Amino acid sequence: MRALKPFSVAVLFLLVASFFSCEVSNQSVSVLDDQNFNKNWLFSKGSFKEGSSIVFDDSAWRSLNLPHDWAIEGPFDKKYNARTGGLPVHGEAWYRKHFTISKDHQGKRISIEFDGAMNEAKVWLNGEYVGERPYGYIGFELDLTKHIKLGEENVIAVQLFPKDLAARWYSGAGIYRNVRLKINNPIHIPQYGTYITTPEVSKEKALVNIATTIANLSGVTSKVHLKTQIKDAAGAVVAEHSSEIDVNTESTTPIQITVENPKLWDIKNPVLYKAVSTVSVDGHVTDEYNTDFGIRTIEFDRENGFLLNGNSVELNGVCMHHDQGPLGAAINYRAKQRQMQIMQDMGVNALRTSHNPPSPEILKVCDELGIVVIVEAFDEWKMGKVENGYNKYFDEWHEIDLRDMIKRDRNHPSVIMWSIGNEILEQSKKDGWKLAKHLNDICHDEDNTRPTTVGFNYFPAPFVNKLADQVDIVGMNYWPERYNEIMEENPNMIVYGSETSSLTSSRGVYHLPIEFTQKHETNHVSSYDVIVGPPWAYAPDVEFDAQAKEPRSLGEFIWTGFDYLGEPTPYGGRDNSTNGYWNDDWPSRSSYFAPVDLCGFPKDRYYLYQSQWTETPMVHVLPHWNWEGKEGEKIPVFAYTNAEEVELFVNGKSYGKKVKGKDLVEIPSEYHDFNKALYKSKYRLSWQVPYQPGTLKVVAYKSGKEVATKEVKTAGAPAKVKLLADRHNIKANGEDLSFITVRIEDESGNLCPNADNLLTFSIQGEGVLAAVGSGDQTSLESFQSNKRKAFNGMCLLVVKSSEATGEIKIEASSNGLTSERLIVKTN
Ligand code: GAL
Repeated sequence: MRALKPFSVAVLFLLVASFFSCEVSNQSVSVLDDQNFNKNWLFSKGSFKEGSSIVFDDSAWRSLNLPHDWAIEGPFDKKYNARTGGLPVHGEAWYRKHFTISKDHQGKRISIEFDGAMNEAKVWLNGEYVGERPYGYIGFELDLTKHIKLGEENVIAVQLFPKDLAARWYSGAGIYRNVRLKINNPIHIPQYGTYITTPEVSKEKALVNIATTIANLSGVTSKVHLKTQIKDAAGAVVAEHSSEIDVNTESTTPIQITVENPKLWDIKNPVLYKAVSTVSVDGHVTDEYNTDFGIRTIEFDRENGFLLNGNSVELNGVCMHHDQGPLGAAINYRAKQRQMQIMQDMGVNALRTSHNPPSPEILKVCDELGIVVIVEAFDEWKMGKVENGYNKYFDEWHEIDLRDMIKRDRNHPSVIMWSIGNEILEQSKKDGWKLAKHLNDICHDEDNTRPTTVGFNYFPAPFVNKLADQVDIVGMNYWPERYNEIMEENPNMIVYGSETSSLTSSRGVYHLPIEFTQKHETNHVSSYDVIVGPPWAYAPDVEFDAQAKEPRSLGEFIWTGFDYLGEPTPYGGRDNSTNGYWNDDWPSRSSYFAPVDLCGFPKDRYYLYQSQWTETPMVHVLPHWNWEGKEGEKIPVFAYTNAEEVELFVNGKSYGKKVKGKDLVEIPSEYHDFNKALYKSKYRLSWQVPYQPGTLKVVAYKSGKEVATKEVKTAGAPAKVKLLADRHNIKANGEDLSFITVRIEDESGNLCPNADNLLTFSIQGEGVLAAVGSGDQTSLESFQSNKRKAFNGMCLLVVKSSEATGEIKIEASSNGLTSERLIVKTN
């Protein structure tokens, strides 16, 4: 760390006292803090030789606020790689920001902190190069002190240069995470300056260890007073500790604080505490640093699996990429919160941040909701999967990136494991274990309270070459039949399904007769939930059985929670004649894997998981009941329930009760490690019902008592537009979102399940259109347009608040239909 010119400490404190309120540095609250440097940037795509220069003419550049993802603005084009979403994620682009800092900040350390920039970021201040960071998913801070001009205009310039063939999914492009300008006194707590662990937890008390780093750039050794207060969720101080430390340039002080009668962070009740670290010299406060944390214990046990606070918890997890569907990769706290709430309602209690370090917002959401997280570092080590992947930077950057990831994320109670890689190609190499050991050691050096893991997809290679021995816990991608064998043959191993299923479907699409492989005519996948994507995929039912067969397994992480942009499997062929790969099946441009579509609308499979992972009585029925022209023909009807039995009625006539677990349903299940045969599922119920328009109804029973019902009605012709906002009151902060489900309904309010009417939106008042989408994996319509075609009766409109309180007036119309108005308040 570079030292500043020596100052008289006392004089300095007088100079800086007025600015103190802006100096809170908080590693865990990046969205709301007061050093937000997101506003008023200038942006242009292209190559600018003088782009870093202070005098460069950027007056014609586009003005925008960060976070920003230029690729989501499109257009979709076949010439872009469908594997990364068919969107322009590559190419050179620049961001510049003009800003002034008051002369009062003489003597301060001034730095800029990016939570991530996609990618190959290079940064200049006033024409002087200040640093770079190639990996787009990692946060980084650059010291600006040397080149900053106080009281005058400064220009910060950021060049990004993402390449084509750099990822296997949609990465987004741009300064897509939050940015802060940090102004610190010479004596301060630097980035990632606290490390909190809870080595002993009981009902009566918790020992909280806090290691606090204090930097001293004043040039003279100072006696520093460090006060650490623990505050509960209501803000009351529950414990306090003070120490005096002589700090020369930097020192780390470990302290222990006892919290009496601690409230534990748990999946059901995720209680958070805050550590407020106040640094002062001679009675003058020089820094205050807040760290959110939780008090909890985690254990991993071969017999009892994952234990949170001593209680065994089966991991009902999802893997998720970082995009937010139509909103792209530009991080938005509410978008993340909504994604995880939708997952939680499905019964999800765990997340694997495939295959890269997450944004701080994702972990904040998981801390708040009570979702445990595997934070993953890499999809590649030295051996590349794509031409311009992380392997290019691995040698130079892996240690810095991995250490930074852990230092940033290790205070989150939600984080339970560090994944050092996904399907890394070294797993089949004889000496692949060496790198695994090296990365494992780095993780333990930074944090020895959490185990490491890898998602392996080869079997038995990593067990033969002993790579699997180098990590604490073994994740298996798509090997459900092998959990027992692995545990038996490796007496020290603990195993879980780090990627499971990869079944595919398109919301609301049903092809009859039931298909077992995808039909290419429309590039959609039927939602009877039997079509696997890649050859290694299999139905969720297979994994449910595998977990039951090897109850010592920690659980599973389905691939994936939400459909994501890119990797449009099973319509992702390779086509070397175009600019890259995976464009054979254009216009497919997003994945089909998830139980939830790109907009967050549940597909049928959502309820299959819900039937295994939740307890509140539920029942779901599929397909829709609009089979005009098929009157009298037998239609396959399926139900998913967590109750004991289900009775099916059509227009009041019973088609009989089926008992879950007894009346088995045959589904095809062909995957690389399983008998190519029909699989008998005990998780689904089915009937063949002659079609007649009217009402399809399922009634679920437990101990003979009706506990849940669901109805689907034959819809008439589309008659009106319906708008359903997830929230009618949002914050007037220029960031908050209301997600509005748009439905095409008949006169009686039934969803028209095949409607594809074109909708037009008008948004007025204190908000703007943030995105539109429909969940159609083949739509090339713009996500930013005020027009959208419904997909199977639905689409999504997302509106964003302005910074003024008032109303957002929304109107949705469509030719020939009654339009609808809605007001969302901003306050
Ligand atoms: C896995 C891989 C994921 C995704 C998935 C699709 O092999 O780790 O990133 O590609 O396959 O099934």
